[in-house]
Amino acid sequence: MNTAHHVDELASEIDPAPPCVMVIFGGGGDLTHRKLIPALFHLTTKGLLSDNFAVVAVDRRELTSEAFRETIRAEVAEFFPDEFDPKVWASLAERIYYRQGDFADHQTYLDLGTYLADLDKQLGTPGSYLFYLATPPRFFCEITRHLSAAGLADESRDSWRRVIIEKPFGHDLESAKALNRELHEALGEHQIYRIDHYLGKETVQNIMVFRFANSFAEPMWNHRYMDHVQITVAESVGVEHRGDYYDQAGALRDMVPNHLLVLLQFLAMEPPTSFAAGAVRDEGLKVLRSIVPMSAEEVLTNAVRGQYGEGRGADGSPIPAYRSSPGVDPQSRTETFVAMKLMLDNWRWAGVPFYLRTGKRLPAQYSEIAIRYKRAPVQMFAKTPIDHLRSNTLTLRLQPNEGIEFSFGAKVPGPSMRLGKVRMNFSYSDYFGDAPATGYETLIYDCMNGDATLFKHADSVEAGWNLVEPILDVWHALPPRSFPNYAAGTWGPASSDELLARDGRKWRAVGGDRF
Ligand code: BG6
Repeated sequence: MNTAHHVDELASEIDPAPPCVMVIFGGGGDLTHRKLIPALFHLTTKGLLSDNFAVVAVDRRELTSEAFRETIRAEVAEFFPDEFDPKVWASLAERIYYRQGDFADHQTYLDLGTYLADLDKQLGTPGSYLFYLATPPRFFCEITRHLSAAGLADESRDSWRRVIIEKPFGHDLESAKALNRELHEALGEHQIYRIDHYLGKETVQNIMVFRFANSFAEPMWNHRYMDHVQITVAESVGVEHRGDYYDQAGALRDMVPNHLLVLLQFLAMEPPTSFAAGAVRDEGLKVLRSIVPMSAEEVLTNAVRGQYGEGRGADGSPIPAYRSSPGVDPQSRTETFVAMKLMLDNWRWAGVPFYLRTGKRLPAQYSEIAIRYKRAPVQMFAKTPIDHLRSNTLTLRLQPNEGIEFSFGAKVPGPSMRLGKVRMNFSYSDYFGDAPATGYETLIYDCMNGDATLFKHADSVEAGWNLVEPILDVWHALPPRSFPNYAAGTWGPASSDELLARDGRKWRAVGGDRF
C-alpha cells in the first residue's frame, strides 16, 4: 500500500469535531486570513468538522457576509492552489458569517448572543461556542469580560464555552500574572486555551512520539549518553511589518519563554503517564521548574544578545540594518538575536548543557534540535586520527525538510581500519507526503474536542517568564553598547560562538555534518 494513501485512510478514521459555532474576534485580521480560515478549509477537506458547524467572524469594519466570503475565497485559492477544491470550499463558505461589531461596546456581545441563539436553532447546534481572540492582546481581558457579562461564557451540561488566545501572554512575569488573574475573573482555567503554535507543529509533537513510542530511544536519553543539546530556531526573515510590536518585545520575549521552551519541555520531560492534558502539562511544568535560575553574574556569561546591522542575504542581495526597519526606533537597543546556556537540575540531565539560539536575519530559515552523544572510548582505534572519531549526533529537523537524522561512524571499506561518518535519514515527506497544514488544524480540532494537551496552562506561562525574568532585568539595567553587533546574513554575534567555545564546543553548522 502506498504510504501517503495509508495516512489519508487513517485521517478518515478520526471522528469529526462535535457540533459548535466558532466565533472569531478580529475576523478581518491577518491571523484569520492567513491561518484560521485556511486551517478550517483543511479540516473541511478531511471531513473533520461537524455538519452542524458555523463560523462567525466579528470585526469593526462594515462588511457583508458575501463580501467577506469572496475575499477569503480568493486568498485560500491563491495560497493553496493545489488543494483548492471549489466544492469543498463552497461547503465551508456557506457556513461562514460576518458581523460588524466594536469589541469595546457591550451591545456587540448582547447582539452576538441573540445571533448565536438564532444560529443554534437554524443549525441544530447545542450552544457550544469556541471564541477565538485573533486580536491584539490588549483586547483579551476586555473581550472575555464582556463575554462573561453577556452570559456567553456560561456552560451547561450539554454545551461548552471555550476561549482561545495566542501569545504574547504579558510582557514579563508580573503582567502575565495580571493577565491570568483577569482571565480567571471571567472564565474557568478549563475554558482558556492558550496557543503556542509550536505545539501545533507535527515535528514538535513527534518529539514525544520519537522518545516514548520507540523503546530504543529512552535508554540513551539522559546524562549518561548525551554530551549536550543544541536548539536552533533560525529565521532569515526580518521583522517584516511587525516592527512596532517587535521593537517593544525583542528576540528573547518573542521566542524564548514560549516556543523555545516548548521544545525544551518535550525534549527533557519524563514520560507522562498518558497523553492526556494534565499528565503532559505536569511533566512539562516540572522541566521548567528544574531549569537552574541564572544569577545576575550568570546572565552576563550564559546569555548573549545581538542586533543585526546591514548585511547580505543568501543570494547576495543587500539587507538593511534592523534599525532601519519600518516601525523600529532608529536608535533601537532591542535584540534580534539571543543565545543562552541552560542547565537542568534533575537526575536525568545532571551536567548536560542545553544551548538555545534564535534570531532574525540569520543565513537560513531553519529549525532543528541537535543532540550530541558522548564519545565512545577510543583506545581500540588508536591509529585513527582523533577528528575522524566524531561523536554520534541525532538531529531532529523541525522545519523545513522535516525529518530525523542520525550520524555515526562506519568502517571505510578497505584493508586498514579507517572510520568515516555516515548518516541515516528519515524525511517526513517520503513517508507521509506533503500534507498541507498551517499548524492550526490540530489545535482548533483539539479545542473543539476539549483536549487541552497541546495548550498552555497558566502555570507554564508564568514559569516561562520566571525563567527569563533575570535576563530581562540584567539586560534592562545594562543597555547594550555594541549594537548592531552582527551583520544580517550571518550566524549572530561572536559572543554566541564564545558561549560554546568556553565549554570546548561549537554550534553545529546548520545543514552541515559537523559540530
Ligand atoms: C512568532 C514570532 O510567534 O513565531 C515571530 O512572533 C516568529 O517573530 C514566528 O517569526 C516563528 O514561527 P515559525 O512557525 O515560522 O517558526
